[in-house]
Amino acid sequence: MGRPAPELPAPEIPTPEIPASAGGQTRAQPVVELLTALAMTAGRGPVARAIISEAQLTAADRAADIGCGPGTAVRQAARRGVPVTGIDPSSVALRLARLLTRTGADANIRWMRGSAERLPLPDGSATVLWSVSSVHHWADQPAGLAEVRRVLAPGGRVLLAERLIRPGTRGHTAHGFTRAQAEDLARALTSAGFAAVRSKILTAGRRTMVVVRADQADPAQVNRVQADPAQAS
Ligand SMILES: C[S@@+](CC[C@H](N)C(=O)[O-])C[C@H]1O[C@@H](n2cnc3c(N)ncnc32)[C@H](O)[C@@H]1O
Repeated sequence: MGRPAPELPAPEIPTPEIPASAGGQTRAQPVVELLTALAMTAGRGPVARAIISEAQLTAADRAADIGCGPGTAVRQAARRGVPVTGIDPSSVALRLARLLTRTGADANIRWMRGSAERLPLPDGSATVLWSVSSVHHWADQPAGLAEVRRVLAPGGRVLLAERLIRPGTRGHTAHGFTRAQAEDLARALTSAGFAAVRSKILTAGRRTMVVVRADQADPAQVNRVQADPAQAS
């Protein structure tokens, strides 16, 4: 393609609901999906940068973005030399992601169709997973968290970021999590078996995001601490 990937400094554009499944498509569906995916490129740079910075990536990481949309965060991670898989149920979003990714900048990137509830990745294959403004779309959140557990390597981390919204918000601006929903997600991560679950509020460009982060316990580390509790500090 050879075109530079634009980071569009556009105004806030509401993101309409996008269906997770391609089943039962009408003829207008691909057009709606394309417009939705295009809207997702607007103003995402600061959010993607903030999440990637929170993820504290190193060259040793193997990363995946669940619900990557047009792939802004995937490209940010790949620029840091990290092999990263962008996963999304929307083939239109993935097509746009490929189009926006400069040839030559894609060496570390793989795009895969899939959903949180059925991640197309082997067990223990990722050291870091994140999801930006996607968890509120997941049809089955417990199934998604179980998949995150399956795919994360021991000692790996997951960051689930949503726009922070006020309780009672309606319409397009309701896409995100209230503080209470973020707390529910944190509890769900703990119930699913994750360790060190914590949340953080971030300002990224014009958006305020809540990031819920958790670790996949490393059994080797747990065993060491059980054998020698002094290592726990
Ligand atoms: C608001 S967009 C966010 C895209 C991208 N993460 C970003 O921040 O620009 C939400 C994305 O979640 C995807 N999505 C919807 N249902 C999903 C599911 N069950 N599992 C994973 N992703 C899903 C949509 O296709 C869409 O690309």
